[in-house]
Amino acid sequence: MDLTLQVWRQDGPTTSGRFETYAAPGISEDMSFLEMLDVVNERLAADGKEPITFDHDCREGICGTCSLMINGKAHGPERGTATCQLHMRKFNDGDTIVIEPWRATAFPIIKDLMVDRSAFDRIVEAGGYITVAAGSAPDANLIPVPKPVADAAMDAAACIGCGACVAACPNSAAQLFTSAKVAHLNLLPQGQSERYARTEAMVDTMEQYFGSCTNHGECQEACPKEIPIDFIATMNKDYLRAKLKNRRYLSRTP
Ligand code: FES
Repeated sequence: MDLTLQVWRQDGPTTSGRFETYAAPGISEDMSFLEMLDVVNERLAADGKEPITFDHDCREGICGTCSLMINGKAHGPERGTATCQLHMRKFNDGDTIVIEPWRATAFPIIKDLMVDRSAFDRIVEAGGYITVAAGSAPDANLIPVPKPVADAAMDAAACIGCGACVAACPNSAAQLFTSAKVAHLNLLPQGQSERYARTEAMVDTMEQYFGSCTNHGECQEACPKEIPIDFIATMNKDYLRAKLKNRRYLSRTP
């Protein structure tokens, strides 16, 4: 495949950026999108030019670092697919592909296509933990969890924290990310002791950095793990309960 890339280049957080155009001939349709960028970077380096900076780690759809806006879509054209799992066969010979970093105030650009997503870390730090009695290992299955509850918790835990939900949202809201992180603990028996304190702390932290949800639903369309916005409704319900006067009582009930 012979492609043309229009890539956002930016030297640092405080400098202005610009699009640069690169020819990418001879790309195999079996390459992943990141492998295609590797090839382009090898050619740039061979020509004595600065390679394109982009984030990646696992390249298996697990770590969530491969945050690229491809032709205006977070993670590109394939639904439920992270950039690292996107293959070039999804594009056509002769295509021009526009590649940008996530666009959100809470995710400032570090360099080229790499952004700082540490605002997500602040949300997780605010409540992404449970209290357990330390000691010897408990017997297996000591706490029964109904199968539908376990399944829902696992669906929420599938969030890889990539930030596509924020990048796709017109408000740069982080409700889908936060609700997934809240739900995977709030749904399980082990997460009950901090359920309402967790929800309040994580939502309040989220609101320091991100915009508000107005139900566009773009987040669930962009999510590479197809996490549904139902979790946002669940989080909002728990947040409301957390704010009630009798929260002390509620914090002791599932
Ligand atoms: S590089 Fe880890 S999810 Fe894409």
